[in-house]
Amino acid sequence: MTREEQEIREQFPLICGSSEAYLDNAATTQKPQCVIDAVADYYKADNANPMRGLYALSLRATEAYENARTKATKLIGAEDPSEIVFTRNATESLNLVAYSYARTFLHENDEIIVAISEHHSDMLPWQDAAKAVGAKVVYFYCEKNGLYSADTLRSIINSNTKLVCMAQISNVFGRINPIKEFASIAHEYGAKFVCDGAQSVPHIRINVKELGVDFLAFSGHKIYAPMGIGVLWAKKDLLEAMPPFLSGGEMIEYVTLCGATYAEVPHKFEAGTVNASGAVGLAAAIDYVDSLGFDLIEERELALTRRALEKMADIPHVTVIGGETAEEHNGIITFKIDDVHPHDISQILSTDGIDARAGHHCAQPLHKYIGVMSSMRISLSFYNTFDEIDRFIESLKSVRERMGYGE
Ligand SMILES: Cc1ncc(COP(=O)(O)O)c(C=O)c1O
Repeated sequence: MTREEQEIREQFPLICGSSEAYLDNAATTQKPQCVIDAVADYYKADNANPMRGLYALSLRATEAYENARTKATKLIGAEDPSEIVFTRNATESLNLVAYSYARTFLHENDEIIVAISEHHSDMLPWQDAAKAVGAKVVYFYCEKNGLYSADTLRSIINSNTKLVCMAQISNVFGRINPIKEFASIAHEYGAKFVCDGAQSVPHIRINVKELGVDFLAFSGHKIYAPMGIGVLWAKKDLLEAMPPFLSGGEMIEYVTLCGATYAEVPHKFEAGTVNASGAVGLAAAIDYVDSLGFDLIEERELALTRRALEKMADIPHVTVIGGETAEEHNGIITFKIDDVHPHDISQILSTDGIDARAGHHCAQPLHKYIGVMSSMRISLSFYNTFDEIDRFIESLKSVRERMGYGE
């Protein structure tokens, strides 16, 4: 382990000194000590129900919660913290848009374009919303290696299209999609662009203004924060026009026996007691990521990806799904081995202390489209080491033999 790797590893208690190689970072990430401490300190020193009390403790809790909103705003290059809605995760953020925006502003015969490689979290909410209002989902197909083209988008978009929904980075291919170009095409037709940033926000520096998207969703737990805190960013005029998703405490201005007027955004969308400790953990995670810098994160993840891809290319019967270069993968390498079921591969890797993922990765329609029942995936973080990649490769090399296939 290099000195740099050691210094990074020391920040992560669960994996520091562990012989297990955690290569499932697209599912969730490990937490640095500063995030664990921030959550513990919040409960030790500042815990009260934010926005509910006028006493000092509640004001401190409110301040801590709102501080997280400011940090999340900066993380994604937004300017106005009131455009940040805290949710549980990316799934809830996308559902919020599907329930509140799509069910209000879409009508019969409208169309929603959804990329075929989407995670179910960015597919099912649109299918459900379309059914609810009589709209239609139109799928945006990529090449079998995950490459999307503007020409294909132009061939399916029309004046009925009201939403275009796509991940910036697919959790299967790992390729960065040209969101800026696609969002601009969507806008030419008067459609809004919903970007799923679950796999991009933790790994690349992003800027919602430059991307030109209308909505962006991501999960805290994939960017080193606790589980249970997520973010929806949306342009303020859209949030203001949208009705609440959930109703109850803290999202109102005035309640009568017949109804209510609602609080200003973003509070209109944060009904009930909020996840203050999760937000505090997210703020600490953002500080941590900022202290490392995206240059280092991107550089390390690219180098680790390159090492894995180069060595995987030399193993007979292993096929990587998606692009050929490390730049097209951003730490996500999905692959298959001839004649071996991914569950068996996963079991063998696990025996060797390698945590990798087998299945359809919540992208079943994509797997059907590319003609693969299920696949294996490793997903890397800057805290992984070259040694872990090498151990993964050694284990991978032995899989077919251990399944009784010989060489
Ligand atoms: C691309 C993508 N979108 C959405 C999600 C859903 O994230 P969560 O389960 O945190 O809501 C995931 C989770 O893996 C994902 O990879």
